Amino acid sequence: MSNNKDEAIPSNFNSEQSLVFVSRGKGEQNKLTFTDLVKATSNFGKENIIGCGSYGLVYKAELPDGFKVAIKKLTSEMCLIDREFSAEIDALSMAHHENLVPLWGYCIQGNSRFLIYSYMENGSLDDWLHNMNDDASSSFLDWPRRLRIAQGAGHGLSYIHDVCKPHIIHRDIKSSNILLDKEFKAYVADFGLSRLILPNKTHVTTELVGTFGYIPPEYGQGWVATLRGDMYSFGVVLLELLTGRRPMLISSKSKELVQWVQEMRSEGKQIDVLDPTLRGTGHEEQMLKVLYRLSVRLLGIEAAAPPFAGAVGLSGKEAAKRLK
Ligand SMILES: Nc1ncnc2c1ncn2[C@@H]1O[C@H](COP(=O)(O)OP(=O)(O)O)[C@@H](O)[C@H]1O
Ligand SMILES: [Mg+2]
Repeated sequence: MSNNKDEAIPSNFNSEQSLVFVSRGKGEQNKLTFTDLVKATSNFGKENIIGCGSYGLVYKAELPDGFKVAIKKLTSEMCLIDREFSAEIDALSMAHHENLVPLWGYCIQGNSRFLIYSYMENGSLDDWLHNMNDDASSSFLDWPRRLRIAQGAGHGLSYIHDVCKPHIIHRDIKSSNILLDKEFKAYVADFGLSRLILPNKTHVTTELVGTFGYIPPEYGQGWVATLRGDMYSFGVVLLELLTGRRPMLISSKSKELVQWVQEMRSEGKQIDVLDPTLRGTGHEEQMLKVLYRLSVRLLGIEAAAPPFAGAVGLSGKEAAKRLK
């Protein structure tokens, strides 16, 4: 990671020509140059960093017209594909849906790649579930809002799986890739990004094509991206919404959230898995319904009794429908 301002801009960059905006019917955006991005991020300064993920740093920028964007600078050590990069980005930029984070453009500067997205005021679901105190989580993330977030993310996922041509497998569904706008509307972020990395050079494989705690157990080390894999990961996100817990429990008897919920259910303690900040709010019945009808099916957890047995291969569309 480099916060050094001199290193932020590659020496051979061409400030006027190298910024590519994808066509989203907003012609006026095309007037921007890379220099505008440099200015809008205080030369990719430390104070503008809003996140650091597996692909690199994310900067907040306010453009001259007041439009806010998030700029993702992909780390150059990642063996990014060169030739197909633009084609891949163009393909991803074709995905337009109200529950997908819009990709506005990209830019190639020497070894650096920048992706430009709409800025999401309320950050990620991961922040709200796991990095806030209980008061903030419970007052802003009550159960109806969590359900709406799940529905929104489900619609976004359903769109890339079922509607987009060609279909897009996300490959890294997790709560930090579900972003929230001012109204807490959910947007799926970063779909298909792992395709920008050379498959035979993924030295930190699991980081790049998925995240621990979200990967179906049967995939093990041989994890390949599939629609079913995305649905499993989405099931884990639903469990996070229901339990308020991280996908990997940090507690002493460290285990995965899925395994813990499974054990609690087999001991008849399913009510105890629900997020304590949501208990006593009158939504328990609906939460348990979601736990059984959806998470369990998506995750393929053995159901204790019918009618919840089987039905592992739920599609994105069905999942979104069932959350209605
Ligand atoms: N479009 C965006 N708007 C606002 N915040 C964002 C945006 N994209 C990313 N972030 C923030 O930056 C963090 C890092 O993002 P990212 O590099 O995608 O890594 P990860 O998805 O692994 O968290 C996110 O968790 C989020 O808090
Ligand atoms: Mg992300």
